[in-house]
Amino acid sequence: MIYIFLLLFLLLLFYSRYIEPGLFIMREREMISLKIIKRPVSILHVSDLHLKGQVPTRLIRIIRKALKKGPDLILFTGDFTECDQDLAHLDKLLREFPDRIPRFAVLGNHEFHHYPVLHVFHHTLFQSKPRDIRPLLDLFKRHHIQVLRNQTRFLKTAKASFALTGMEYTDHVDPLPSFHWTGIRKGYFHLLFFHSPDLLHFFKKEDYDGIDLILMGHTHGGQVRLPLIGPVVTRTRYTKWIVDGYARRHSTFISSHRGLGQSFQFRFFCRPELVLLRIKPPEAHSA
Ligand SMILES: [Fe+2]
Repeated sequence: MIYIFLLLFLLLLFYSRYIEPGLFIMREREMISLKIIKRPVSILHVSDLHLKGQVPTRLIRIIRKALKKGPDLILFTGDFTECDQDLAHLDKLLREFPDRIPRFAVLGNHEFHHYPVLHVFHHTLFQSKPRDIRPLLDLFKRHHIQVLRNQTRFLKTAKASFALTGMEYTDHVDPLPSFHWTGIRKGYFHLLFFHSPDLLHFFKKEDYDGIDLILMGHTHGGQVRLPLIGPVVTRTRYTKWIVDGYARRHSTFISSHRGLGQSFQFRFFCRPELVLLRIKPPEAHSA
């Protein structure tokens, strides 16, 4: 009997290490806008690629599949590569996202730090080293991807008017950056995006005012999700509600991304995902 359990355990280890990290899926989520938007819009949310070496063919395939759904906007929420040597692979991947679709990005903690593999087990013994973000910013520039570093951009399309606010990753977020989003014009669908859910910890109730949707990544959905227990390692001060999927705070929708990659190659019941968000006008809901 013990041999059967041992075999099962080894099979699960093998699956989590070599199979599941490559099983990319596309998840579609829907929300009804409380603001008037003219027609339904869709946003492709890409997060936590953690590219190491060649871009997996299956990842390219799922991106192409998502692009066929005609997203109006593409947003990246950080953690693109593990080190500068992988920027060439990122360059190749970014070519998949066409220039005709507006693309915006924020940076994640892996853009500012290089982490040794064992950092995940012991933060002080295996300390991170600072990383220069300039080569990545140059790459984005070449791909016409706008990086929002505590900035808001207004974007008007035939379907809706967006105010897009990107908040920069920082290790120390208390208090929130003095930059704020009070100047958002009326009637704009306000989308706030940043890398880590930890920022939310410093939000007061009034900070959510006027924000329609928040997008974020960083948690990798916990990477390992045990039955009845849920996500094991969340990398944030939050545990369950904000780690993966949809949530709502006051009148703001919050969408958390499981990520497409990871530093430590291991996933269990937490397949890497690409998220396509569909935002519908209020009348489409009642119809
Ligand atoms: Fe990440």
